[in-house]
Amino acid sequence: MDRHAFVLMEGKPVRAKIYDDLKSRVTELAREGITPKLATMVVGDDPASLAYVRGKGKSAARLGIDSDQVNLAEGTSQEEIISRIDTWNADSGIHGILVQLPLPHGYDEPAILENISLTKDVDGFHKANMGALAMKGMEPLFAPCTPRGIMEMLRFYNINIQGKEAVVLGRSNIVGIPMALLLMHANATVTIAHSRTADLPAVCRRADILVAAVGRAEFVRADMVKEGAVVVDVGINRREGRLVGDVAFEEVKHKAAAVSPVPGGVGPLTVAMLMSNLVEAAERTVA
Ligand code: GUN
Repeated sequence: MDRHAFVLMEGKPVRAKIYDDLKSRVTELAREGITPKLATMVVGDDPASLAYVRGKGKSAARLGIDSDQVNLAEGTSQEEIISRIDTWNADSGIHGILVQLPLPHGYDEPAILENISLTKDVDGFHKANMGALAMKGMEPLFAPCTPRGIMEMLRFYNINIQGKEAVVLGRSNIVGIPMALLLMHANATVTIAHSRTADLPAVCRRADILVAAVGRAEFVRADMVKEGAVVVDVGINRREGRLVGDVAFEEVKHKAAAVSPVPGGVGPLTVAMLMSNLVEAAERTVA
């Protein structure tokens, strides 16, 4: 008999549940004469960024959510970018604003993001929203989508978080830092590990819940995983024309109790949580 049943934490059933809820909320908003609308900006022509934003537009359409997409050439001035954001801030028909990251080199990312109206910051990357997430007794208006999606995934698969050792691999603004904060709020004991961490495999082996967000293909090997751990793979690495996660799935699955696949794990949930944040933003405009 298996030591433990293995759970493949697929994103699609989690997303289906989130979308069911959102569909009825969009219908409810329609009764108030409101169609949620997302404005997105891509600067430059990075194919991955363009593909992600196209995916966001498609998901929005499937839910009856409008979207407006602007693609600015690399080299567009920071003032021009900020002026576009200001126009969206002032437009009451737009409920959420997203600037796809990373921006090309040379732009001051935080300076751009802090121009997004707090009430329309559906990515949750504004320093006031990130700051509120980090402060006890405060609530951000929005929390970043990928970490929120992972929390939904853990809940869906009945993963107990309270009191567990959680290790987050990676310290990005988009995933690592907000992920650690959300796990801490859920009463995990949290470690953020990164490229300078001494004896990284030993730190990872402490984890009951290991979240890999380092952007290196198959970085997490079986010898870095504790028997029975829950492993969440946030990596999207392209290798020989296919997508590979940050976790060496084929070897880790024999050790872990649960692993999220790539593709088909966390990916679908990032967009789902963006839609969730957007619908919430639209609902807040109803008196
Ligand atoms: N780049 C990678 N993930 C994200 C995200 O969730 N939002 C934005 N704006 N850019 C990203």
